[in-house]
Amino acid sequence: METRIQKVNPENFDDRELDDACLILKREGLVAFPTETVYGLGADAMKEETSKKIYEAKGRPSDNPLIIHIAETESVYRLAKVVTGKAEQLMKAFWPGPLTIIFEKKREVPYSTTGGLDTVAVRMPSHPVARALIRCSGILIAAPSANTSGRPSPTKAEHVWEDLSGRIDMIIDGGQVGIGIESTIIDMTEEVPVILRPGYVTKAMLEEVIGEVAMDVALLKKPTGELRPKAPGMKYRHYAPKGKMTIVEGRMEDVVREITGMAEKWKDRGKKVAVIATEESKELYPIEEVYSIGSRKNEASIAAGLYDILRKMDHIGAEYIFAESFSEEHLGHAIMNRLLKAAGYQKVKV
Ligand code: TXA
Ligand code: MG
Repeated sequence: METRIQKVNPENFDDRELDDACLILKREGLVAFPTETVYGLGADAMKEETSKKIYEAKGRPSDNPLIIHIAETESVYRLAKVVTGKAEQLMKAFWPGPLTIIFEKKREVPYSTTGGLDTVAVRMPSHPVARALIRCSGILIAAPSANTSGRPSPTKAEHVWEDLSGRIDMIIDGGQVGIGIESTIIDMTEEVPVILRPGYVTKAMLEEVIGEVAMDVALLKKPTGELRPKAPGMKYRHYAPKGKMTIVEGRMEDVVREITGMAEKWKDRGKKVAVIATEESKELYPIEEVYSIGSRKNEASIAAGLYDILRKMDHIGAEYIFAESFSEEHLGHAIMNRLLKAAGYQKVKV
């Protein structure tokens, strides 16, 4: 299959530029598109066969459900059996935006889209291209992140091309996305709503609107027999570069000393090493192989740079990767959740 690329400037475009993409979606094809979080791989959510195509293109296990993207609030009522008052408050406060809400599903939602579950994940993206695409295609779009299963989510069209060229019909290139990590997922089918995946919308932000919210306890730990994350997708070793990655936690000077020592040891043995540091620390390392992920003064810049840097580790062929650690407060919780998964939960304290 030949994958076409359609460039669109999110700040200034005409809906007609999306005509071909919309036609592909109507004809049950696959189109990757930018959202405010990461690039999604879209197809008709209400057809059994099209969601199967998504799983095939990504190489994704079919028990891992997809998020349905909508452009109008009314669409929720086509998908969800019950929409509670609290869910409506969240929709009002955070949509359009990076929040995915889990509802009990209606019969019409195919099990191929929900991975066999009786619940459905719904999100209204705020990205203008995503919104225009949902509207012009006239369908509800199932869209997982547009990466090969197991690789970091794409934050640029180039990342999508790297993973999926030849496997999908089109990539809409809207440049680099703003947030850079996937949406927060909240399960509203529980008595006390539960965060299944941390993201840009934090626990504190949610609690301000609906009161008590719980956090899936498995989120910062390695999945084991009893301790399994509730979002099926969170159990996989996701977001992972090919090299062996270790996160080092402690006071800045101790971390720099420890990482330098380990990096030098592996370099001496002829291995390719890389260090994931920050704007504040990058000059402190007496070695060359240092990459800055963003500034500690601006957590959002770290989220935005995370997946690009993880992909860069593969591009340079890093065999041993050492990353600094971040506070688990606010957006830091989402950042550490992704970093720990990338490292296979390998973390040392100094
Ligand atoms: O920001 C995002 O959410 C991006 C963009 C493209 O919108 N999408 C995304 O989709 O990250 P994906 O498929 O990569 O991740 C969806 C996650 C998976 O961990 C999946 O298991 C979980 O959502 N999920 C989907 N439906 C669910 C359900 N009914 N119950 C529990 N977890 C669900
Ligand atoms: Mg994904």
